[in-house]
Amino acid sequence: MSRPVFRVVGLPGDCIGPEVYAAACRVLATLQETHGLSIELDEQLIGGAACDAAGVPLPQQTIDACRQADAALLGAVGGPKWDDNPADLRPERGLLQIRAELGLFCNLRPVVTHPALQAFSPLRPERLAGVDLMIVRELTSGSYFGRKWRDSEQAEDVCRYTRPEIERVTRAAGRIAQRRGRRITLVDKANVLETSRLWREVAHRVIGEEFPDVAIENMYVDAASMHLLTRPADFDVVLTENLFGDILSDEASMLCGSLGLLPSASLSETGFGLYEPVHGSAPDIAGQGVANPYAMLLSVAMMLRHSLDCVAEAEHLESAVHACWNDGILTRDLRPDGLGTEEVTEAVCQRLRAPSTVHAES
Ligand code: NAD
Ligand code: IPM
Ligand code: MN
Repeated sequence: MSRPVFRVVGLPGDCIGPEVYAAACRVLATLQETHGLSIELDEQLIGGAACDAAGVPLPQQTIDACRQADAALLGAVGGPKWDDNPADLRPERGLLQIRAELGLFCNLRPVVTHPALQAFSPLRPERLAGVDLMIVRELTSGSYFGRKWRDSEQAEDVCRYTRPEIERVTRAAGRIAQRRGRRITLVDKANVLETSRLWREVAHRVIGEEFPDVAIENMYVDAASMHLLTRPADFDVVLTENLFGDILSDEASMLCGSLGLLPSASLSETGFGLYEPVHGSAPDIAGQGVANPYAMLLSVAMMLRHSLDCVAEAEHLESAVHACWNDGILTRDLRPDGLGTEEVTEAVCQRLRAPSTVHAES
């Protein structure tokens, strides 16, 4: 039977975005050689690159291309060149718009520690053993999307959540929890925020009625940011609102050792997903060829699994990445004598081409 040709929109973006995106393209080309995986990459503009070329951070053509595609892969957007742009013309606005336009309300940010990397985390190794948590971040509402205004003396970002918005992301978290440890920690600020009190009411009702085999506990976000560092292995699924999820995921990246290691998937109700590293465009290291490509490559693996149903390819790619970690093939964010982006990417591709070397998972 001939294999389908998948359509993926490529969104390189800005600064290190195109550098890690190039790593993803190279790995996809290798998977075509090794597994016959057939992907048609349709490259489009987003972020600062789109502002420069088309005058807006998210051209209509990019949205239209995504609507025709099975998935999208994004590098990163933003950079000092555009930091003084008016709000509507900031690169980050392009990212927020694409999430809203495509209904990508469910953002999955897995945080899994690997024995070979524990020595590179700023945290003590004994705390890191067995960490395997999934942050489920609501992505298209809250203070990111509420009414905003400003005059010379005041500014406001309204945090608003509706019942259906909380219900749908809670259901997604419930389904994920059922395939994992069946425990959800709802992270909020219900001692202060009315929105958090609505989250508690709705999330507990949805889980109680529709996922009786899943346990749900509450945790205030300030305490959660501490518990994430002191007892990270106790967490299974962390369900939280947009802003808290953004902050907690960068914090959680330190459990793995670098922000350059965390992948993410942003999913809609339809199966379409946007896959991107959790990190940003890292202007401080852009153009040097030293960006860590692993977050991007693991995002490719998430795309293969969640949107393209290519589970064998996803597992093979993850195994190749883990084999590289076991061999100490790391970039400079993890070790001072680290390799460059291209060398690391080539090492992953080599291991994909030699399947026998990647079976020994640790
Ligand atoms: P950042 O995530 O870009 O960088 C934070 C620190 O982590 C920097 O020191 C950077 O060098 C390092 N880092 C990040 N990714 C790395 C990688 N792959 N390899 C090695 N080191 C890496 O966050 P920032 O500096 O606060 O923001 C820079 C720009 O990125 C801003 O314009 C911001 O708005 C944007 N941003 C974009 C996204 C996105 O596109 N999804 C996410 C976050 C921030
Ligand atoms: C992320 C980023 C974005 C966010 C920014 C760039 C809008 O930090 O994806 O984590 O805050 O969602
Ligand atoms: Mn972020």
